[in-house]
Amino acid sequence: MTTSPHHGPHHASHASHHGPVVHDWAVASLPGTDFDPVPHRLLHEEPVARVRLPYGEGHAWLVTRYEDVRLIGADPRMSRALTVGRPLPSTTPHTLAPAGGVGRADPPDHTRLRRLIAPTFGRRRIAALRAHTERRAETLALDLLETGPPTDIAESYVGPLSAAVVAELLGVPAADLDRVQDWRAGILSHDTTADAGEAVKREIAGYFADLARHRAAHPADDLISELAAARAAGELSTPELVSMAVMLTLNGLDAVRNIVSTMVYVLLTHPEQTAELRAELRAEMSTELGSEPCTEPGRLSGAVDELLRYIPQRNGVGMPRIATADIEVGGVTVRAGEAVHVFYPAANRDPAVFTDPDRLDLTRAEAPHLAFGHGAHYCAGAQLARMEAEVMLGTLLRRFPGLALAAPPEHIAWRTGTVNRGPETLPVTW
Ligand code: HEM
Repeated sequence: MTTSPHHGPHHASHASHHGPVVHDWAVASLPGTDFDPVPHRLLHEEPVARVRLPYGEGHAWLVTRYEDVRLIGADPRMSRALTVGRPLPSTTPHTLAPAGGVGRADPPDHTRLRRLIAPTFGRRRIAALRAHTERRAETLALDLLETGPPTDIAESYVGPLSAAVVAELLGVPAADLDRVQDWRAGILSHDTTADAGEAVKREIAGYFADLARHRAAHPADDLISELAAARAAGELSTPELVSMAVMLTLNGLDAVRNIVSTMVYVLLTHPEQTAELRAELRAEMSTELGSEPCTEPGRLSGAVDELLRYIPQRNGVGMPRIATADIEVGGVTVRAGEAVHVFYPAANRDPAVFTDPDRLDLTRAEAPHLAFGHGAHYCAGAQLARMEAEVMLGTLLRRFPGLALAAPPEHIAWRTGTVNRGPETLPVTW
């Protein structure tokens, strides 16, 4: 091997006779919407870099630029199935995504699994669920108005609403939600050991296997019943059914609760932009004579997308992909067999795509953000999550004209050691 003429931090991606430079990414839990400095620096200095993560063995590539992240996400030569059983660099001591789940499948299994849930999460079904979600949000808002301020809006409004929606869609009995919430906390934590993580996963798997058995005998109008019927028809296996139910429940409970609560925080810490948004919503409503409020979200859906772009929704990275061939990305050759992580929040701050990317601009109309991923593994719940965010924020803005944080922003407690970032509690007043 010839010695590279370049050494030192400015040429960190060059191989030298000491071997390639590998960056340590310790993945600290950050408050508010603070952006993790490691991926932020790599986005600007070394957009395809080798990183070591807190758990797992060896290093992986970390891809941070918008175009590069899209390229990796859409490349069929990047495999998820090949991650199964390998101690890959990871943010958590246990693997979050179960083997047999959509997140770790390649075609044709991946295509088959996504097709099974497509009707449930498609535009038509979600539009039908919107009116129901609006009524629920309205009732909760009126209860809060009656009780009076202050309240922890994450636990009294966003959390219960997101739990009710996913429970309804899947068919998880409301009485079981507390138990599911405890499992959620155990799985989606960086501090849960590998053994404890596996134990929780076994318990939750047993729960959904039982529920599916019950629905096979007594079908209802929900996704678990549909999956049970598909299993009876030989279209998916029991482990696949269980993985699907677990993944959908955990995402539905955790991702939406955390990100929508953070959206409320961001709106309340950007009062001028929020006042403009509220005024435009009022104008839109007054022209919507006779129609249900919020059915035509217009300006609000643009604001929700900007919030999704702006909010760094997770600590660290999830599941890597494994290259099945040598792949060129951002001027680097990823070799067959190597692991590649993409970091969607960094791609959402790429200055080549977004003007002044670290600034919130609720009227921004630029490229689509990558908060829901890109390519075959694009978030199955994206339409659902958007609808929930629009309904929850729309109802809050309409019903609580004086909504404000009930504590200084720097006193808000943020979850630490969790996969999804969000406020521990979000005290508000009005
Ligand atoms: C605002 C909230 C949410 C955000 C930001 C979000 C984001 C994401 C991202 C980034 C991915 C992974 C892309 C990849 O693997 O490269 C993903 C996958 C997924 N999400 Fe979401 N998600 C949210 C809510 C939901 C909800 C509510 C559900 C369902 C109830 C859901 C179900 C899924 C599923 C099933 C996958 C795996 C898709 C696959 O691998 O084919 N997500 N999500």
